[in-house]
Amino acid sequence: MIDSRSDALVLFGATGDLAYKKILPALHAMVRHGRLDVPVIGVAYGGYTREKFVERARKSVNEHGGGVDRAAFDKLAGLLHYVDGDYREAGTFEKLRKELGEAKHPLLYLAIPPSLFDDVIGGLDAVGNARGARVVVEKPFGRDLSSARTLNRTLHRTFPESAVFRIDHYLGKEAVQNLVYFRFANTFLEPVWNRHFVEHIQITMAERFGIEGRGKLYEELGAIRDVVQNHLLQVTSLLTMEPPVGMSDRALHDEQSKVLRAIRPFSGRSLVRGQYRGYHDETDVDPHSTVETYAAMQLHLDSWRWADVPIFVRTGKCLKATATEVLAVLRKPPTRLFADPSGERANYLRFRLGPDRVCIALGARVKAPGEDMVGREVELYASDVGGELMTAYERLLGDAMRGDATLFAREDAVEAAWSIVDNILRRRSELALYEPQSWGPADADRMIAPFGGWWNPPASA
Ligand code: BG6
Repeated sequence: MIDSRSDALVLFGATGDLAYKKILPALHAMVRHGRLDVPVIGVAYGGYTREKFVERARKSVNEHGGGVDRAAFDKLAGLLHYVDGDYREAGTFEKLRKELGEAKHPLLYLAIPPSLFDDVIGGLDAVGNARGARVVVEKPFGRDLSSARTLNRTLHRTFPESAVFRIDHYLGKEAVQNLVYFRFANTFLEPVWNRHFVEHIQITMAERFGIEGRGKLYEELGAIRDVVQNHLLQVTSLLTMEPPVGMSDRALHDEQSKVLRAIRPFSGRSLVRGQYRGYHDETDVDPHSTVETYAAMQLHLDSWRWADVPIFVRTGKCLKATATEVLAVLRKPPTRLFADPSGERANYLRFRLGPDRVCIALGARVKAPGEDMVGREVELYASDVGGELMTAYERLLGDAMRGDATLFAREDAVEAAWSIVDNILRRRSELALYEPQSWGPADADRMIAPFGGWWNPPASA
């Protein structure tokens, strides 16, 4: 177990898409908030120089980090180093060793495809760069259970589990952490948070945009591997897990793994895979590709708390809105006293997880003014926060540098999530085409029709 704070940050894949869109802006924000003052060494095989890397960082912050703060950027630029080299050559790691100078506990961030892990970890190990280090690995962590296990073995050859940080940026989101806080800091929810009161749960992660030039990667993944295996199963686990015995990373991860292991394999009819019309025309996409850009599924949890409560999960690219929301619908009152239309919901809890205006709302019914005893739905807001104070990557990078693994995925939880996903993928269903900017295939509507249909989260204001 390493106690010290990381004294350098090494970014493999420094010229890649993830570094550009998320990591470099997060580093800029960290400097601005006084949370980063150690050398940052970018490593890539792109023929870059340090100057070109600094320029790329500037562009990235302008485009994805809300604009450059001069003082902060100058300070960040002063921390940036760059090593160019092939990950299969020992020389690359020797150059890195030199750049690391006196640093003894670097944080090694592998923002690279898993196929390169072996080379990079072997190279780091060979010249002693891995000693005393922590390692951050990006999703997708493998492409099925067996490759995830192989990756875990590769990592553990060099790093103990306590030094491995599997990043799932959803866990760094303020609104996702609030799921845990709201559930366990209140007592009113617990008595109803179970099969006796909750009728079903829906989780929707909808995106209006397509694959945004990520054809090559997306063709290897599809929606289920891209976001269900990680982000959406993490959210599911936080919503449904038992109260942890404390807030240590171990206590939280124990409960997450336990609940993930209880997710029941489901029958083929509870999966709908879709692809938006026009996907075949995207760059780097096979014109006959059957990769899904949409998936909707019904999960079941075999536990005392959740038996027989369907959990519907859906995600898709090119849908009508960009929004991630959870809706937990409570059962209706046992007798119908009022003349409200029968299809209307009684109570529900709605968690909006993003992209902005995150909120927690309680749906309730109140009498509509007038002579008749009929009502309407209102929402009581428990929390309504605009914007993110700190991006997920900024939060998680800071945590990893301090060695706090609470918001990272543990090996057994990742493997439990892959078991569920392997099961889903084994049942490869037909692929339904859907129109861009729609809510996806009609089959998905049929799947949830007995429960009153999908709640389509509104686009951001
Ligand atoms: C990534 C997926 O992990 O998460 C993307 O690879 C997806 O396909 C993204 O768009 C969504 O994250 P956020 O934080 O922008 O909602």
